[in-house]
Amino acid sequence: MPTWTHIPIMAGEIAEMILTNPNGTYMDGTLGLGGHTRYFLTKLDSKAAVFGFDKDEQALQMARQNISDVRLKTFHASYIQAPELLKTQGVEHVDGILLDLGLSSYQLDNPERGFSILNNGPLDMRFDLQNSLTAAVIVNTWPLEELIRILTDYGEERRAEPIALAMMRARKDKPFTTTQELAKLIETVVPRRGKNHPATQTFQALRIACNGELEAVEQGVRVLPELLKPGGRMAVLTFHSLEDRIVKNTFKKLAQSGTWRLVNKHALVPTYDEVRQNRRARSAKLRVIERVS
Ligand SMILES: C[S@@+](CC[C@H](N)C(=O)[O-])C[C@H]1O[C@@H](n2cnc3c(N)ncnc32)[C@H](O)[C@@H]1O
Repeated sequence: MPTWTHIPIMAGEIAEMILTNPNGTYMDGTLGLGGHTRYFLTKLDSKAAVFGFDKDEQALQMARQNISDVRLKTFHASYIQAPELLKTQGVEHVDGILLDLGLSSYQLDNPERGFSILNNGPLDMRFDLQNSLTAAVIVNTWPLEELIRILTDYGEERRAEPIALAMMRARKDKPFTTTQELAKLIETVVPRRGKNHPATQTFQALRIACNGELEAVEQGVRVLPELLKPGGRMAVLTFHSLEDRIVKNTFKKLAQSGTWRLVNKHALVPTYDEVRQNRRARSAKLRVIERVS
């Protein structure tokens, strides 16, 4: 089995902004392979605690292998379940929260998970393998209008209708089972533009739909700031404009209430050096909010 890695993005900046109490209690809502949390633990003292959540049990197993530290406790759960799960641990409030949205490199690079356009694999795309909704179920069974809606809303794909029609025609002959079958079909409908593969927007749309990603972000950024202690901070890293818009608008509303304040007025982005070393950092945007009372 290959060794998967994921380079945590803007880890130094995030640690500096959210680790306000060296012996505090923290929540990593998207633990992944544990890159950020491992770094945070090097900055925290012995009485600190980090509660790590992920919907992906395989990622959690790797995180636990990568970090053997009694200060970390993990949960196979969505970050939106954090308030109730933290309560079971006697935790009502935390000093800092991180959401690093989207996919880990492990999920993207491992063809078996079905997120990769270039490496063939089953058309899966689930973060949580216990869920029954796969990308294959969506492309093989969802009605035309729903396919057009997700391609438009979640993929911002201008050719949503011709792609959806092509999917409907192709699935009549033979249901889609692999990422390559779908990618090849889309190549016949969408001309290659620039560096991105023609199926990039469609894969993004399917992944978001399959995992209910935008609904989770909307709920997460609305509800999780309530968990912060006064002076506590929540950082959110996003990788596309749909997510960033939700975070930006929700944080703005929270700041208007007076209970929270925006730590940075505009989104922060990685340095040129970081993007040069890690191409996946290129679209990252960081927003941070602080609870004031
Ligand atoms: C970009 S990765 C996180 C990488 C991590 N920060 C690191 O440095 O290794 C995003 C992770 O969030 C997880 N995820 C996505 N939506 C989630 C949700 N609603 N609740 C919990 N985990 C989620 C994914 O399974 C994935 O492992």
